[in-house]
Parts: sequence; structure tokens; C-alpha cells
Amino acid sequence: SKVEFSEEDVNKGDFPHYMLKEIYEQTETIQDAMRGRLSREEATSKLGGLEMTNAELRSVERIILTGCGTASHAAMVGEYIIEELAHVPTEVEFASEFRYRNMPLPKDSLVFVISQSGETADTLAALRESQRKGHRTLGVCNNVASTIARESDGGVYMHAGPEIGVAATKSFTSQVTILTLIGLLLGRIRHMSTTEGLRIIDELEAIPAKVAKILEQTDHIKKIAEKYSGAHSMMFLGRQFNYPVALEGALKMKEISYIHASGHPSAELKHGVIALISADVPSVFIAPDDSVFEKNVSNIEEVRARKGPIISIATEGNTKIEKVSDDVIFIPPCPDFLSPILTSIPLQLLAYHTAVTLGCDVDKPRNLAKSVTVE
Ligand code: G6P
Repeated sequence: SKVEFSEEDVNKGDFPHYMLKEIYEQTETIQDAMRGRLSREEATSKLGGLEMTNAELRSVERIILTGCGTASHAAMVGEYIIEELAHVPTEVEFASEFRYRNMPLPKDSLVFVISQSGETADTLAALRESQRKGHRTLGVCNNVASTIARESDGGVYMHAGPEIGVAATKSFTSQVTILTLIGLLLGRIRHMSTTEGLRIIDELEAIPAKVAKILEQTDHIKKIAEKYSGAHSMMFLGRQFNYPVALEGALKMKEISYIHASGHPSAELKHGVIALISADVPSVFIAPDDSVFEKNVSNIEEVRARKGPIISIATEGNTKIEKVSDDVIFIPPCPDFLSPILTSIPLQLLAYHTAVTLGCDVDKPRNLAKSVTVE
């Protein structure tokens, strides 16, 4: 069977690179991840592919999310989302670690393996090991003909269409959307009210239009990318839901622009990272209007005091952030748990424009493969 899409199958259209095309597709792919899966009548999501009854879903005591690379970052966002919406203890493990680790898991553990390609060797091995131990193991895959999609005990397809650019973009936001649907479903069969379920559905449905507003800022983001493209090192910082987004922003930058970048929880700065801050090491703060905004501002001040340039991802209308940042990219307001879907997009564009400015091969970065089918 055909498991990989190739460049010949997919047209770039008017876009200079697949990566940019795929970033722009997110207004639709996020919609496609939700399509037919939201029920206003029951104020919940419908995920028939899980092949689990409500009683079975209700008895889940622990969730394990596993994957590699960008999928592992989506999993980390999922941990925050599922614990917030469903109050089910959730843990993330790299697939490469999970497969060799003897993780003590209660009987009613549910394991999700997350993989765009459905072919990543470590993720497939994690699936098989989990099943061997007798855990129900579900897939979150894009490629419907893939080995992981075939071998898992059910799951949720992303329906994001082929992703050709080696650096994952639209698959990340699709995975986070699906993990939100899982959180909503598990929450509604536990403690969540109809009103709250409906509010979440409204907020999810409002996301694609907000993504479109972010994409309109590509020229602004390009200027910022050009301004900092000479940096030899960059920091990405965020807290709570946006800590994994910091990791993903740093990964994007490393993968395609080859600039050294690292992501950290903002408050960890003072425990080591701050030693690296100087006038030529820019910090990207993911600081939307959420429960930890003020905390992020304090962390920004710590970096400013060491002359580190600040690029902030913040919420429209926030004037405070402009006073403490050299450059700001705004996103529309949204609930805390949905912010990663929005905040990740400016970071994709920042990495993209930086790589283009530096003349890098955006779609086929050196030393990387779209899907790593060897251990
Ligand atoms: C490779 C790709 C990454 C991707 C990772 C996991 O390393 O370069 O972009 O995140 O594999 O891929 P998967 O297909 O399992 O999501």
C-alpha cells in the first residue's frame, strides 16, 4: 500500500515552499480535524473511531500520550488540556523512551500514539510494546494507510491532507485540536456541564477565523525574522499551556534555519538559562493574556535587565506587553487551553521567514527526514 505522499502528488500552487502552503492550510485543516465531530445537542465531541463505549471511557484512570518530535510537543500540550478539561491524570513520554521503559501503569490506562506519518519506527515500537502489555492503544494519525493506523486498537484521524515539508506544521495544530476533542469528550462524561461543553464548542469553532487573522501578519513576522536572522542562538519561553509551544517554536527554528534554539518554561530562566542571555541572544516569549501573563512579564523583565532582545507573542489589545518588548506579534483572544493552536502559528512563520532569509532549504533541511522509519 502507498504510505507516503510524494512531492509529485501534491502541488505547491502559488506558494514558494510546501511549508508555507501547509502553514496557510491551517485555517482549513483545523476545521477538518473537528468536522462532524462536534455535537451541540449533546455538548460534546463524537469520536467513533476510538471504538470505546462511554462506560469504557469513563473507567479510564490514566492517559499516556506518546510520539516523537513535533508530535511529542502536541502530546505535551494535550497533557495540559486533558487534565484541565477532563481531570484525568495524563503523562507524556517520548516514544523512544516509552518502548524501553517499564512504566508502571494502572490497569485502566489508555495509551495514545501520535504520529503524522504513522510510520515513525519508535512510535510504532511504543504502540506494539503498549499492546503487548495489554493496554488499549489508540492512534492519532494523518496517514490513513499507515502501519500505526492499521495496528492500533482504534483512534482519530487528523484529515489534514499530505504534509510534505519536513518540518511539521499543520499536523501539530491538528493533533492539538484532536487532543482538545478528547479532553472535551472525557470531561463531558465526567464532571463537565452542558453549558461548559457548549462554550468549548463555540470557542473551537471560532478558531479557524482567528488563525486567518494571524496569517495576515506574515509580512510583519517576516520583518522580525529578518531583523534577528543574524542571531547565533535564540531562546523560546512560555508557561503552562504555552511551555510546550516554546519547545515547538525552538524545534522549528533549529530544524530549518540551523540557528541554535532552546525552549524552556519561562520561570526556569533564573535556574540556568539566564546565564546565556546577552544583547545578541533574542528571546521569544509566548505570553498571551492567560492566568500566567503577569508571571511572564516578570520573566521578560529579568531578560531585559540583561539586555536580551524580546520578541513577544501576545494577545491583541494588550498594551503592557509593547512596553517591555522590542517586537510583538499579536494573536486574537481565546481561552487559555486553546491558545497553543494560535501561538504556534507565528512561531512557524518566524522560523520559516528566518530560514528563507538565510537561504536555507526550507522544505528539505539538512540531516532530517520527513518520517524516520529506522530506530
Ligand atoms: C521526523 C520529522 C518531524 C516529526 C517526527 C515525528 O523527525 O522530521 O517533523 O515531528 O519525525 O513524525 P510523525 O510522522 O511520527 O509525526
